[in-house]
Amino acid sequence: MTITTCIFDAYGTLFDVAAAARIAASEPGRDDLATCWQKLASDWRLKQLQYTWLRAVADAHCDFWDVTQHGLDWAMENNGLADAELRERLLQLYWELQAYPEVPEMLAALKQAGYATAILSNGSPAMLDGAVRSAGLVELLDDTLSVEDVQIFKPDRRVYDLVGKRFGCTPEQVLFVSSNGWDAAASAGYGFQTVWVNRAGEPMDRLPWTPSETLPDLTTIPALAAQL
Ligand code: LAC
Repeated sequence: MTITTCIFDAYGTLFDVAAAARIAASEPGRDDLATCWQKLASDWRLKQLQYTWLRAVADAHCDFWDVTQHGLDWAMENNGLADAELRERLLQLYWELQAYPEVPEMLAALKQAGYATAILSNGSPAMLDGAVRSAGLVELLDDTLSVEDVQIFKPDRRVYDLVGKRFGCTPEQVLFVSSNGWDAAASAGYGFQTVWVNRAGEPMDRLPWTPSETLPDLTTIPALAAQL
């Protein structure tokens, strides 16, 4: 089945989520953070995601900005960082995340080849709008789809349904790309053709479904889409 529509997860896939802690750690007067920013970034991300799953199964939805703050508060306490100004700075940086370097050229190649392109993310519309603008991707995406339309986080199937509703395509016509192994796996179970972007060389999640492809970064997505 020919791919018509290329859909991207946002955080960790197009946008480098570790950049907030990395940039803050490089700023003057942040010696405490400089020694633990990688642990802080990984605790923050893990708790943020755990809270999305827990809220989904508990039917207690809030938006991604709330779980992002709750995850940061847990991570700062776990790393002995009690600093209100640092908290504000990290949250501010989360609205200005840069895209990975290969993203603009990759999206431009997909547009040039005639594919529809969009984000499908847990992020709230306002957060995603901030990230898309700061990374300069506005012209390269046809739309930004947020779970806020269905009020539940990934990997609920209602989230993946948003793609067909917006673009009028079948699941087999969609190439879905995520750096989250669980998101790539669950969306393969849904019926999308999927790519897991495994930048960190992590083991595959043990779930009932397997992504169709695993790639080290996004560079070859246009070539892959053309082959499928
Ligand atoms: C997202 C998270 C899961 O953008 O990375 O949906």
